[in-house]
Amino acid sequence: MTKKFYISTPIYYPNAKLHIGHAYTTTLADYVNRYKKFRGYETYFVTGSDEHGQKIEDKAKESGESPLVFVTKIINTFKDLWKDLGIDYDHFIRTTDKTHINYVKTNFSLLLDKGYIYKGYYEGWYCKSDEAFFTNSQLTKEHKCPECGNSVELLKEESYFLKITDFKKWIKQALKHDDILFPHHRVSELINNFITDLQDLSITRTTFKWGIPITEDKNHIVYVWLDALQNYLSTLTYKDAPWSVDDVWGVDSDVEILQIIGKEITRFHAIYWPIILKMLNYREPKILAHGWIVTDKGEKMSKSKGNVVDPSLLINKYGRDSLRFFLINNIITGEDGKFSENLLIENINGLLVNKFSNLISRTDSMVKKYFDGIVPNGGKLSTLELHLNKKTDLLLEKYYLAMDQFDFSKSTKILINYVEKLNHYVDQSEPWKKVDDPHLATILNFLIKEIFNISSLLGSILIDSYEEVCNWLSVTNKNHEDNLNTDFANVKLKPIEHLFKRI
Ligand code: MSP
Repeated sequence: MTKKFYISTPIYYPNAKLHIGHAYTTTLADYVNRYKKFRGYETYFVTGSDEHGQKIEDKAKESGESPLVFVTKIINTFKDLWKDLGIDYDHFIRTTDKTHINYVKTNFSLLLDKGYIYKGYYEGWYCKSDEAFFTNSQLTKEHKCPECGNSVELLKEESYFLKITDFKKWIKQALKHDDILFPHHRVSELINNFITDLQDLSITRTTFKWGIPITEDKNHIVYVWLDALQNYLSTLTYKDAPWSVDDVWGVDSDVEILQIIGKEITRFHAIYWPIILKMLNYREPKILAHGWIVTDKGEKMSKSKGNVVDPSLLINKYGRDSLRFFLINNIITGEDGKFSENLLIENINGLLVNKFSNLISRTDSMVKKYFDGIVPNGGKLSTLELHLNKKTDLLLEKYYLAMDQFDFSKSTKILINYVEKLNHYVDQSEPWKKVDDPHLATILNFLIKEIFNISSLLGSILIDSYEEVCNWLSVTNKNHEDNLNTDFANVKLKPIEHLFKRI
């Protein structure tokens, strides 16, 4: 039976254009999704936009548009960016879609019926820019929002609540003992900072209108997080969804789940979200919380700080493969990592040009020079090739392990390390000195096979380069692990440009 994989990104706020931080999350998700397909999985990849809330209502007002007109324009820029970055998602969900709205309303009624929702009053410190309430003790010393540092205001209003506290013990145990949250060190952080003080979650608002109205009480709209989190379920109720909510989230499901998020929304995803799932009799998620992209001075990039980098400019200047590779390779998965244009250029020149591109172009010119561009048949392998063959087996094992442990930045190091080994093999075997030696054919046959192997693995990141390598080798049946170790003997090499150029 085909194995199945479900992957999601957060749904982003359409209050401004996306920046490199959002591109980072989505690139990681695209990488894993392509990797899983490569391994033979059937996959479903969802991303989208989180469109309700007061902040968006205010922004739309400022620009003199209705909220829906306002967000629709911004969402088009999201979709353009994903296209430019090669993000191959299956569904773009909008929380203003009828299907999603109906789903949220129905579940509200269901949770109310089950006794998990009650009506009361909420008083707390509200941060508009994070759309979140904080208790006194969670505020900074300066009495500001602990997440973004902006001012907070004291609000008291009638609200419906979700009985989160009923599940306090359960979630603590689940976080400790089940593999819900990666990297694991975030678990104790979460338990210490949030579980001890855990309170019921306020899930409706009466002070603004831009949200999903509940059937039971016309003054209330669903507060954004209960609305937003359920996109991960409602996406499976759309007409074109390949699987149902039960197929994926049912307790007996064998679909693998991975939800990639940035660390600042871990609280919502690793505490409230599993509890909501539990209330609905669904199973626990698997969440990877990555770190932040920071400036070279170590500051978090964010819209509110005005220090963001526009990924579209980088794609135009350096190509999407370079950006995708940088993000996955240079930011240690799970930790904060720096971005600057200089770092990107160093990465392109040092790894993609000097190592990867160079390996291909030197091999290409040798096949063209010594064999008229037709890949020769290989003969008996020498110890050098046999040794490398062993390394290839190990490479695959190590690479698959890193990917399955969600250690994406390690996965690229493993691949680049193999590219280095292949370059070293060329230097050691000195094909240019073997023009009259029958082993020359074996070396080049072997190199072409290995270049295809490594390009196939890198192909989940370097999507355009992989296409070019396939074109070079006339490969049509691509992107699958069964094609590894293809013998290209007698294939006529097509022209190939330098995949990456020195900057
Ligand atoms: N709408 C909520 C998510 C709801 S999911 C049910 C939201 N949206 S957001 O537009 O603010 O996007 C937040 C996400 O963007 C983060 O979780 C993270 O994935 C990404 N990033 C935003 N800034 C970032 C960095 N500086 N670095 C890395 N990722 C960051 O929160």
